[in-house]
Amino acid sequence: MLKSIAVMTSGGDSPGMNAAARAVVRTALYEGVKVWGINNGYHGLLEEDMFEMQSKNVGDIIQRGGTFLGTARCRRWQTPEGRMQGFKNLVDRGIQGLVVIGGDGSLRGAQLLSQETGIPIVGLPGTIDNDVWGSDYTIGCDTAANTIIDAINKLRDTASAHRRVIVLEVMGRRSGWLAMVSGISGGAEYILVPEVEYNLDEICDDMKRSYEAGKRYILVVVAEGVGSGKEIGKYISEKTGLDTRVSVLGYIQRGGSPTVIDRVKASQLGERAALAIISGLSDIVFGFDRGNVVSINLHDAVTNKKKLDPEYMHLAKVLA
Ligand code: F6P
Repeated sequence: MLKSIAVMTSGGDSPGMNAAARAVVRTALYEGVKVWGINNGYHGLLEEDMFEMQSKNVGDIIQRGGTFLGTARCRRWQTPEGRMQGFKNLVDRGIQGLVVIGGDGSLRGAQLLSQETGIPIVGLPGTIDNDVWGSDYTIGCDTAANTIIDAINKLRDTASAHRRVIVLEVMGRRSGWLAMVSGISGGAEYILVPEVEYNLDEICDDMKRSYEAGKRYILVVVAEGVGSGKEIGKYISEKTGLDTRVSVLGYIQRGGSPTVIDRVKASQLGERAALAIISGLSDIVFGFDRGNVVSINLHDAVTNKKKLDPEYMHLAKVLA
């Protein structure tokens, strides 16, 4: 039984990270275990920017996007020397285990720390991309998808008014999950994702036929992993002669008050992570599989590439 742990958020922020960190803190305190907060991810760990937390430190944050602990991308953590320094900073404070809330890059850094030092590590998948192997959910993906369909609803109004083709580029790094689920739920005519081959010339010919048949407007959702929405929009405009505009949604997808789903699931994951690390478990990531919390081997989670659900791909094709 560990008596002192720490929690941090790392990599790209996501709505729900606060709910997860709050659950880690409150569960640890409930179990009578000391819990430290590390500011600004691995950067803060290296700079010894950490503080012992009380319940009030995580008050009034469950509804807030972003992360009250701050996060950062940290080059020094890529080095064994950097990771050893971080380990020392934990040991100097009597911290016996670490919960890392972040995306696959952050979880990879955590796995190396555990491998090189033996300190117990438990990870939580904190990223809007939903690209962590072994889990069909990551903290923030639901809020980001809802942000995207809010944008889609607005774009449909202006596309319809002007009889335009609108190309919307969304985030997701190398995963097409955000584009796929928001394209399906937003009723997009075309969804371009890195996981599925497509022929832009055939799509352009199809668009022209649709307009000739009276189609009023067309929405194309493009995952950033496919390429530049601006380039794709330019190609469509030149190839079809249709009035085309492009929106790159950008960082609005990372913010916002987390949805009920993100708040509840993040809280469930935070509780499980705290109980696991306190009991001495290590090298696991908690995620979800069809609605149930599952624990995934940390090494597997960071070395396997998550695939897009083929059911979504078929559905997108049928409904387009
Ligand atoms: O991983 C989350 C994410 O928002 C990706 O979807 C996006 O490509 C990336 O972070 C942007 O990274 P940064 O915040 O470092 O610009």
